Amino acid sequence: MNVNRDGLTRRALLVGAAATAAGLGVLGTTRALASAKPLRAYAADKGILFGSSISGHALKDPSFAELFKSQCAITVPESSLKWDTLCPTPDRYDFSGGDWLYGLCKSNDILMRGHTLVWEQALPTWFGYIVNSENANKMMVDHISKVVRHYAGKVHSWDVVNEAFQIEDGRPDGLKITPWLRLIGPEYIETAFHAAHEADPGATLVYNENWLEPDDAGTEKKRNAVLTLLTRLKKSNVPVHALGIQSHVYAEMNITGPGFNRFLQQIADLGLSFMITEMDVRERNAPADIGIRDRMIASQYYKYLSFMLQFPALKTVITWGLSDRYTWLATHNPRPDGMPVRPLPYDAELKPAPSWDALRNAFLEAPWR
Ligand code: G3I
Repeated sequence: MNVNRDGLTRRALLVGAAATAAGLGVLGTTRALASAKPLRAYAADKGILFGSSISGHALKDPSFAELFKSQCAITVPESSLKWDTLCPTPDRYDFSGGDWLYGLCKSNDILMRGHTLVWEQALPTWFGYIVNSENANKMMVDHISKVVRHYAGKVHSWDVVNEAFQIEDGRPDGLKITPWLRLIGPEYIETAFHAAHEADPGATLVYNENWLEPDDAGTEKKRNAVLTLLTRLKKSNVPVHALGIQSHVYAEMNITGPGFNRFLQQIADLGLSFMITEMDVRERNAPADIGIRDRMIASQYYKYLSFMLQFPALKTVITWGLSDRYTWLATHNPRPDGMPVRPLPYDAELKPAPSWDALRNAFLEAPWR
């Protein structure tokens, strides 16, 4: 009989996987496994790093902190390494939050990503009063150099530039009209990557973007704009090594279509790896019934990850939060009916949700990379 290391017959797994795929989730069988191995172990069995973002606030919750340390092989601070947190006043850097998290990661065999060096959000309150077209380039380069040198040799990878595209802004290159674009020009992107590489030549440097997944005409334009940029950067020997695909998605979306598939293949053909950097799954119009919502969400996790993990270039899967207890969506995108959102592998009581099973099954079935 073909039995895997969890003592499950292949048939039981397939039934579990098929049911999860259909969003039904054979909870009896797979639930018994929920405590069998942590998600980081199922992922590691296939050469994949699994983890979640983290906040200092959540780590003050002892039961959550234990869950985080058991499940995650990699993490990324939601705020500790952003400019507004690092630099509350123009003349002072406060690395205490990032250093504390790095210490916790190091003592728990967890890798840490850096997020994010250049973004139009999370800028310090003093930014608008001090930064201008004369000094913007130097201010950006100095910030990158200081932060990347501080963590040189310590981080898994850096999101150097985050969310630089917005087709609706009307530029032919699709770039978002941000303070960086206005004050420096489109070359701010390559300047940022060169500065990060100079500060830590061993660091993996990532361009991180949202809303690349849906199969619609507007998103296709954005994918083409991102591909054009990355192709140009690679041709100019700009040190960019990977694309971060945030994957903040809806359960109802088609996010495994031919356009996205083609895009991912083109990214891989550039010699870039890619990462799922911020995944969570919310519902747009689902009914209030928690069972139905959980099955919709689990089904999307399973379908999307099975699709993405077919690419050997994908080696890192990070959810944006690990438990609904600390999801950003509770405040940033609550349900109109006020029901608690359920976008993550653990619910607000820190119990594994059906999406935990979906992640596990996707890792179990993924090819080795
Ligand atoms: O720490 C302060 C606290 O002292 C203060 O009392 C409180 C009220 O003003 O604000 C706290 O800072 C908040 C911070 O999160 C920490 O909780 C900021 O106001 C708030 O803007 C910040 O929101 C974060 C947001 O990025 C902006 O930095 C979210 O938690 C975080 O989930 C979100 O994450 C982004 C990624 O970086 C990029 N991709 C999209 C993703 C979701 O928007």
